[in-house]
Amino acid sequence: MKRRDFLRSAAVTGAGVLILPRTRLFGADAPSNKLNIALLGTWGRGEAHFNAIASENVVALCDVNEEHLAFGAKRFPAAKTYVDWRKCLDQKDVNAVVCCTADHTHAFIANWAMNRDQHVYMEKPLANSVEEARVVRAKYLQKRAKLATQVGMQRHAHENFNRLRELVHDGAIGDLESACAWGNRRLPRPGYLPAQGEPPPHLHYDLWIGPSPFHPYNPGYFAGGPGMNCLSWNMYWDFGSGQVGDMGSHTMDLVWNVIDPDLPVSAEAKGDPYNADVTPVKLEAHFGLPANNWRRALPVAWYQGGAMPETPIKFIDLNQIDHGALFEGSRGSIVADFTNRVLFPSGRDADLTYYRPRAKDKLIPPLGDFQKQWINACKGSLKTSCDFDYGGTMIETLLLGLVAYRAGRKITYDGAAGRVTDPAEANAFLRRTYRPGWTLNG
Ligand SMILES: NC(=O)c1ccc[n+]([C@@H]2O[C@H](COP(=O)([O-])OP(=O)(O)OC[C@H]3O[C@@H](n4cnc5c(N)ncnc54)[C@H](O)[C@@H]3O)[C@@H](O)[C@H]2O)c1
Repeated sequence: MKRRDFLRSAAVTGAGVLILPRTRLFGADAPSNKLNIALLGTWGRGEAHFNAIASENVVALCDVNEEHLAFGAKRFPAAKTYVDWRKCLDQKDVNAVVCCTADHTHAFIANWAMNRDQHVYMEKPLANSVEEARVVRAKYLQKRAKLATQVGMQRHAHENFNRLRELVHDGAIGDLESACAWGNRRLPRPGYLPAQGEPPPHLHYDLWIGPSPFHPYNPGYFAGGPGMNCLSWNMYWDFGSGQVGDMGSHTMDLVWNVIDPDLPVSAEAKGDPYNADVTPVKLEAHFGLPANNWRRALPVAWYQGGAMPETPIKFIDLNQIDHGALFEGSRGSIVADFTNRVLFPSGRDADLTYYRPRAKDKLIPPLGDFQKQWINACKGSLKTSCDFDYGGTMIETLLLGLVAYRAGRKITYDGAAGRVTDPAEANAFLRRTYRPGWTLNG
């Protein structure tokens, strides 16, 4: 029941209600203050959300795997259960959605949920193509006055994110000249798996394929342990975007949080030879980001699978950092992972006299629990750290790297229009092909 409706019904029932203490009625735990959550994907990454959503009314569960659905139903026995997320989102009382399904359904579910005025927590990556990222972001911008969204980039809650932002903004490395992030996860695959056996009766395989072009069943797509099974399918173009969407979503966040970015005006990428089935293991993508009100135009890069930036300091081996970021400025550099950072002043002027660390009471306050931030936002401020504007711009940029990779040359991009201006043929790579009957905007 919405708070407004609750107040109305309280007025109708009259004096009986008035004897309850006000805090019990309107406090954080009052029934009227709880969200009615649908959890999509009830195993694997889904389980990581059980505790966070248990404080709310979990009213619906959806999983294409009925054994996984039963796993979720054990924890939330009062919820209605579904195998088709389209039906689940139509359950009338659902007002918030936590989604942990496979990547190729994320943009669909995000957009359909927002069309129903449901708040959304979407696991990363937010989208699987540039077009999907843009559709979801545009929908969010249209509805941001009433919806709270969060992309599951929960490492963002590490206080190191705040410290990096402060260091760069306060001038610890002078003027920011470039930034990049890298990841070393490597999952080489030869091509889509060959047909093997029949899907088990508890798995609705056709629904798992969902909007993507059909590929025959192979148990190898489902062979990973809980929370790791995404690694069994995310290298294939029709199911994911490889490390771009996987660790790229987490690691580029270190950079994104600092640079106050707008969409890039250019992208250029190279890596493994193109494979029509599988995304590249080795890749480096370079983006030209426009200037903003505090910094010049900025080269930003993403490296993965063995491609690495050059170290700015010979005695620092960046290869020792699995997933990291590097900021280079006129007076030094910062090297970071998710929880640590080191500052290297460099050059003759780098005596640090130009830099005053902030007083403790001026530090950016900790974000707190990342999932709770979204739950609280749904009930009040609507403000989150990784909303679909912030996360949407970031994944659009990263995915544009894959467009440039497929184009095989530098592309120029009109971020306002969402078009590659040169070469025009590269526009074909901005979108994915869907099976008949599936629409992003349902
Ligand atoms: N934020 C993080 O740190 C983090 C960590 C792991 C995974 N993830 C993300 O979470 C998502 C799930 O990853 P996973 O490893 O748990 O994968 P998974 O293959 O185990 O899928 C999770 C659950 O979703 C169900 N599912 C898949 N497609 C569905 C659909 N269309 N409708 C309903 N249910 C569906 C599966 O049956 C499974 O029970 C991925 O997008 C992944 O990128 C994020």
